[in-house]
Amino acid sequence: MSSKFYLTTPLYYVNDVPHIGHAYTTIAADVLARYKKKMGFEVFFLTGTDEHGQKVDDAAKEAGQETQDYINQIVKRFNEAWQKLDVEYSHFIRTTDDSHVKAVQAVFEELKKKGDIYEGEYEGWYCRPCETFWTELQLKEIASNPKEYVCLTCKRPVERLKEKTFFFKQSKYAEKLKKHIEKHEDFILPTSRRNEILKFIEQGLRDLSISRTTFSWGVPVPGKKGHVIYVWFDALINYISSRGYPDRKKLKEGWPADVHLMGKEIVRFHAVTWPCMLMALDLPLPKKIFGHGWWTVEGKKMSKSKGNVVDPLALAKEYGVDAVRYFLMREVPFGVDGDFSKRSFIKRYNSDLANDLGNLLSRTLTMVDKYFKSQIPNHKSQTIPKLQSPNIEQHMDRLAFSDALVEIWKLVNKANNYIEQEAPWKLAKAGETDKLAAVMYNLCDVLRVSAVLVAPFMPETAEKMRQQLGLKSLDAPIAGVKVKKGEPLFPRIQT
Ligand code: MSP
Repeated sequence: MSSKFYLTTPLYYVNDVPHIGHAYTTIAADVLARYKKKMGFEVFFLTGTDEHGQKVDDAAKEAGQETQDYINQIVKRFNEAWQKLDVEYSHFIRTTDDSHVKAVQAVFEELKKKGDIYEGEYEGWYCRPCETFWTELQLKEIASNPKEYVCLTCKRPVERLKEKTFFFKQSKYAEKLKKHIEKHEDFILPTSRRNEILKFIEQGLRDLSISRTTFSWGVPVPGKKGHVIYVWFDALINYISSRGYPDRKKLKEGWPADVHLMGKEIVRFHAVTWPCMLMALDLPLPKKIFGHGWWTVEGKKMSKSKGNVVDPLALAKEYGVDAVRYFLMREVPFGVDGDFSKRSFIKRYNSDLANDLGNLLSRTLTMVDKYFKSQIPNHKSQTIPKLQSPNIEQHMDRLAFSDALVEIWKLVNKANNYIEQEAPWKLAKAGETDKLAAVMYNLCDVLRVSAVLVAPFMPETAEKMRQQLGLKSLDAPIAGVKVKKGEPLFPRIQT
């Protein structure tokens, strides 16, 4: 029986069409999912959309459309984007799915029965764009005057709320959560995020307001007219509603998640609220929560109002899907912030993809055509060792995607140097056919191995490499195979 691997992206709000930030998390998840599949795991890769809440409702109104119609169009855009970016998810969940809505209500009822949800009144601050409650103490970190209070995440003004609400007894689980985090070093990664969360819990956890009364676009609170469930409480449940909850027997097969991937700004919901909810439900906690960094664009925060939002599809159309996937995974270590600029994109494309990988393939195949009538020769000489394939497992297990790519590129560049060193043209001239055969065999084998290694990152490129090498599959023997040199993998971008 193969082991299972369950990974998730956040559910994206449907107030906006997919941009490079959404693509980042989703592509990272896809790379990991493809890698794990290759390693023999039975993978469940979940993504989807977060469709309730005030901000989505506002966006629909602003667009002058019925909320549901508006949402359906945006969901379509997300689906299309993932398809075009070669993202192979296992399931796409929408928080308006009937089964999800029922699961959310079941959680509410279960916890209310248990006494972990109670009625009260909330008075405090709220950030609508982030759908986040803030305490006075937190807001004071930035401004001393309430008139200047802004959201700690997005820096936009917060609004004062006073309403009847249901609370979730998050405070009850603070100590237990803290112990769990302390005991499991890899529960929240990177470590800087883990430290932030520990500090946050140490300041004391408050109970969380989990229902709203001032709008109606949400999951109705069972048995209480006029209340809808707070969008975060609703959305987090997707990770179990998609796996069978409230059917606990079914859930046992599909839970806990191995890793929740997300941007750093929503780690708190996943590393505090969500685990407390799970503890209240007597369910195991996810194994890992990974908060990656944020992309800026040409040094500036990406925003609709600035008009600098990068559309991953436009980029993919111009330079190819794999170039986008490669750039995002290679440019910055997963976990730290990065900057997207046209210049850095083109630089990476030309150096790593066009020069290093693309040229290695085209030079090698040209020589196989020329010296061996397009047929990969047998490795006859023992004096020429094979180039060592790198081990990327430890990097992939740490989600260090860019380190894994660096390792793969060491091999690619070793092969490029090897061509210079062995100078096949000289061997041909000197009639050293056995040695020439060994060199060409080695180069083709490096290309085959490189294709295997890059496949999770650049599935189309791996496929093109397989075709040009003339192989039925990337683990097939190469000797005697007829190569079919094709178009350059990555035509150089002229600047
Ligand atoms: N709906 C919530 C998540 C609920 S999960 C149960 C939400 N949605 S969101 O549409 O705002 O998406 C946020 C996520 O998009 C981030 O966590 C990150 O994965 C991705 N990104 C959005 N902008 C980004 C950047 N500029 N850079 C990197 N990733 C970013 O929060």
